[in-house]
Amino acid sequence: MSSAPLAGTARRVLILAVAALVALAMSVVVTAGRAAAAPGPSFTNPVVPTPNSADPTLVFHNGFYYYVATTWTADVVMRRSATIAGLRSAPEQVVVRTGGTTMWAPHLEMVDNRWYLYYSVEQTGGPRRTHVAQSAGSDPMGPYTIRGIVNLMPNNGWAIDASLLRLNGNLYMTFSAFASDGLQSLFIAPMTNPWTAGAFGTRISAPTLAWERQDGAVNEGSFALQRGGRTFLTYSASHCNGPNYKLGMLEYRGGDPLAASSWTKFPNPIFQRNDANGVYGPGHHSFFTSPDGTETWIAYHANSSASQGCGTTRTTRVQKISWNADGTPNLGVPVSTSTVLQGPSGEVMPAYARISNRHSGLCLDDYNWVTTPGAEVRQWTCNGLAPQDWQITPAADGYSTITNRHSGLCLDNYNFGTAPGSEVRQWTCNGLAVQQWRITSVGGGYSTLTNRHSGLCLDNYNFGTAPGAEVRQWTCNGNNAQQWTIS
Ligand code: AHR
Repeated sequence: MSSAPLAGTARRVLILAVAALVALAMSVVVTAGRAAAAPGPSFTNPVVPTPNSADPTLVFHNGFYYYVATTWTADVVMRRSATIAGLRSAPEQVVVRTGGTTMWAPHLEMVDNRWYLYYSVEQTGGPRRTHVAQSAGSDPMGPYTIRGIVNLMPNNGWAIDASLLRLNGNLYMTFSAFASDGLQSLFIAPMTNPWTAGAFGTRISAPTLAWERQDGAVNEGSFALQRGGRTFLTYSASHCNGPNYKLGMLEYRGGDPLAASSWTKFPNPIFQRNDANGVYGPGHHSFFTSPDGTETWIAYHANSSASQGCGTTRTTRVQKISWNADGTPNLGVPVSTSTVLQGPSGEVMPAYARISNRHSGLCLDDYNWVTTPGAEVRQWTCNGLAPQDWQITPAADGYSTITNRHSGLCLDNYNFGTAPGSEVRQWTCNGLAVQQWRITSVGGGYSTLTNRHSGLCLDNYNFGTAPGAEVRQWTCNGNNAQQWTIS
């Protein structure tokens, strides 16, 4: 370290002068060469790991995906991410404390600018029934108020896997329940509002075909898919305890939607196990649209072994679907967990991202809200505040600059360090290599950030886990202290 402060100061002034010139040049080059907003990062399945990863509902709304799935606990938890690739590491937030037990198959849907969560739970002394919670406003993250039980079957009967269907200007609920013949079948009920059934459900599909009766005769997990004026009701068939759980499909043919005669069943499954790809029991799905509205995707759960069943081994996978020439959906085959998929069309990183460390779970933070060059960067409990909002701007050669929302300063390899342990601070953005970071996905929604000048990685120094833990640069070694989620 120089012992002559004047030399040090003069050096920094000179560097700043040079930086100003270079930055000017760079700003022209960067501006001229600035990349268009990159599509969402690629990913591999599963996009959400166990345990809360079966029976997924995935919705894209106002720039973010919102994800809910079976938890087997008393709670409904939700994940939020700007990209599919970021789902895995997106924190789970409890959005409904149901007051019941073993929450199954939450379905998230907006009706008249309010979000509704439909889920089934068991309650002391009563059968498993469908409950509904309503958001206070238009934020899918809530808060929610439980509106109660949707009374779908006589005698407070068992009912699960509820989802909504809009048809002919009316609102319906499709769900699974046991009919008088003992078959777990698909039912439909008219809704007078999103939380009230106008009548008990009527059966529109029973598990009568051989492929619906493997390991147990079941029809459940219904989800409507509408396109070109046609209405398909897709559902899960056979028992989730076996590898032959699969998807089937009905189509509405006109008439009273409450009448079974208004629906026809396609004779063959539309999505099922693929042993070559190592995917077993794919089912209990939902469909979602890509951010730009041009693609339809399916989210479903599956096991990676034929011997696994309905427990917490089922993980969430997503893939794009297509459409056949006759207008029916083509779901293809469930892809292998080694298949790299491009994120849905129109995915973009949010204007600001939170950067959190895999080891500490803490967020990169403009420490003490400082706004002057040299401001420290540390880790702090994630709080969603501006000092933890970072704008990632593509620069040249696959590098990016990372600007703090509160300070307006750039993440900077302080003093042009090149040795392990070199400091990371914030400095006036100048476009120099010390402020350029290569973000490299290492899978699972995690990335490393490598400084262009030092070649070192952004590092949770000394594996800190307490708020205030230091952030420095260290030789890239791939461990969790150097893995960050950007979401
Ligand atoms: O995963 C829990 C339950 O098991 C779901 O509600 C149902 O679809 C599945 O069979």
